[in-house]
Amino acid sequence: MSLVGMDQILQRALRGGYAVGYFEAWDQYSLEAAIEAAEELEAPAILGFGGAVADVAWLDGGGVESMTALGRCLAERSRVPTALLFNEAQSYPQILRGLRGGCNAVMLDSSELSLEENIAATRRVVEAAHALGATVEAELGHLADASDPDKAAPRPTDPDEAARFVAATGVDALAVSVGNVHILTEGEAQIDLDRLAAIYQRVQVPLVIHGGTGFPAAAIRPAIERGVCKFNVGTRLKQLYLEGIASALDALPPSPNVHDYVGSRSERDVFGWGKAMVKAEIKRLIRLYGSAGKAGASS
Ligand code: 13P
Repeated sequence: MSLVGMDQILQRALRGGYAVGYFEAWDQYSLEAAIEAAEELEAPAILGFGGAVADVAWLDGGGVESMTALGRCLAERSRVPTALLFNEAQSYPQILRGLRGGCNAVMLDSSELSLEENIAATRRVVEAAHALGATVEAELGHLADASDPDKAAPRPTDPDEAARFVAATGVDALAVSVGNVHILTEGEAQIDLDRLAAIYQRVQVPLVIHGGTGFPAAAIRPAIERGVCKFNVGTRLKQLYLEGIASALDALPPSPNVHDYVGSRSERDVFGWGKAMVKAEIKRLIRLYGSAGKAGASS
């Protein structure tokens, strides 16, 4: 199976009436959690890491290449169709480095730009990525960020602008702002399903929902019926990773042999406890999104 285009994964989901989760990873353990969960449920996978939630100096000092190499290695060995996404890259040079390293899908964090600037920036990304056979996702409209109310105000995606944006850029997937909120850990977002339907009527490309953590379970199926075939989830996974590690630390014996507890990959590995929690949540979400059992060629 191994590496396949994110566009192919999303087009197949669109035809099949289900969505694929992008479970944003930050290290080897979280990448493994995502791929193992997908393999165990025979679901297509979109592995990847995010540029908006990591230190830019670290990313620019080799973080992009390290995460890409880790993800690429797992994607190539995967038993299910797997794409590798560099999500919310912070600059065009970062996009190029992700592509050069082996990401086969990219997204530039351009949603705070004006429409015209966003079109110009995204078109440049599409030219570079498509020349290498890679998929491009872009966001139009802007999401609220529940962790920082001082950040730019949310801007819902306008269906007419969406049509113009997709036609002018040639993007393969469009992330939309329809009430979904980034990093929402208390309560649930209010989703504007009418707006989603209006956008999908105008663009007909796979739609993407960022802010999967606070997205209401009851709106998942209606969203899929309105063109959504990818949900991005990040915050909830990191919460669970920390919880798993915290319980492992609570259970530490006095004077532990540190080699058992750090990096051993045995059942004592404290990061393994975090990974187990993340993996269980990813499996729950894969089932909710309807992509379990969809890894086969006929799905
Ligand atoms: P959450 O962290 O709110 O789940 O959103 C993740 C995301 O949208 C990454 O692109």
